[in-house]
Amino acid sequence: MFILNANKLEELTAYLYQKNWLAPEEEVVEISVPGDGNMNCVLRIRTSNRSFIIKQSRDYVEKYPQIAAPEKRVLTEGAFYSKIATVKEIQSVMPSILGIDAENNLIALEDLGPSNDYTILYDLEQKMTDLELEQLVHYLNNLHHSFEKTVVDEELMNTEMRRLNYEHIFEYPFRIDNGFDLDTVQKGLQDLAIPYKKDTILKRKVEQLGTLYLSKGKYLLHGDYYPGSWLNTTKGMKLIDPEFCFYGLREFDLGVFLAHLYITEQGEAAISFVKENYSHLDQLNKNILDGFIGTEIIRRLIGLAQLPLKMDIQTKSSLLVFARDLILKQ
Ligand SMILES: Nc1ncnc2c1ncn2[C@@H]1O[C@H](COP(=O)(O)OP(=O)(O)OP(=O)(O)O)[C@@H](O)[C@H]1O
Ligand SMILES: [Mg+2]
Repeated sequence: MFILNANKLEELTAYLYQKNWLAPEEEVVEISVPGDGNMNCVLRIRTSNRSFIIKQSRDYVEKYPQIAAPEKRVLTEGAFYSKIATVKEIQSVMPSILGIDAENNLIALEDLGPSNDYTILYDLEQKMTDLELEQLVHYLNNLHHSFEKTVVDEELMNTEMRRLNYEHIFEYPFRIDNGFDLDTVQKGLQDLAIPYKKDTILKRKVEQLGTLYLSKGKYLLHGDYYPGSWLNTTKGMKLIDPEFCFYGLREFDLGVFLAHLYITEQGEAAISFVKENYSHLDQLNKNILDGFIGTEIIRRLIGLAQLPLKMDIQTKSSLLVFARDLILKQ
């Protein structure tokens, strides 16, 4: 097994030659980390004449090695990139796939160059432009409608990653004894969360939404459509990290997207803009969409996958009430 290691330039060079991912004469000049990530090992490889990205998944979370994770997840990501390569409008805003090594759970990707992701939005100091919102919704329109299936099948099931996400979105945040002291995130958050963990009506509805998340669907989803997957590059907005992709309900991608517009306080105009520009809003189930929005908001506030969110406790309290109403109102 080849283990990617930023400090072992010679080993990496030998590996890349062996895979024929380097031309004869081409040399690795520098290995660096292109940006923040938690789950996988992601490196930028600069050679004498170009650069590219390699991403390896392991059977644990890169930043927290004590936490297990599906070992082959990057291969699903690779399969997603291979699939979307056939549609120009989608490929043009995602890195192209340069190679897949199924044996070593590793993919090579086009380098999108220096970039910032949009997690800066959690500072609550920036509003997205209409152009940015338009590009984000345009991507979902293209993705959801380019790969629609007439018959649901087993393609890109991504079962283990979906199970992991299911646990973190629909179960863990609502468990009283999950062992996570929310006061370590922000004083007062633990007390704020307790009523939601004890709310049997809410929990029943969230469980139903979780079942929908786990069910098969006709539409190819990005699966993790939030500011951490959106890159601001010198060539415009790009989308990355489809490791949670699957064929499912469109309401999930759109719901997560809208949830983060609420969390980052983009305002009702931004929400309306996205809904108006999403191609087939009338085909969606509004209750399911609102349910996914509400659940994503709650899990980001009281679940384990915390965001660098600069929000006072009173505002979080109001946002939680709002999210609960979204889930329960019929
Ligand atoms: N193709 C690319 N071109 C340029 N930079 C990239 C590319 N892919 C990833 N990056 C940079 O590396 C960072 C981590 O990549 P990515 O999000 O794919 O890793 P991850 O381990 O899945 O992260 P997470 O834990 O957030 O899921 C990105 O935020 C981005 O800054
Ligand atoms: Mg990821």
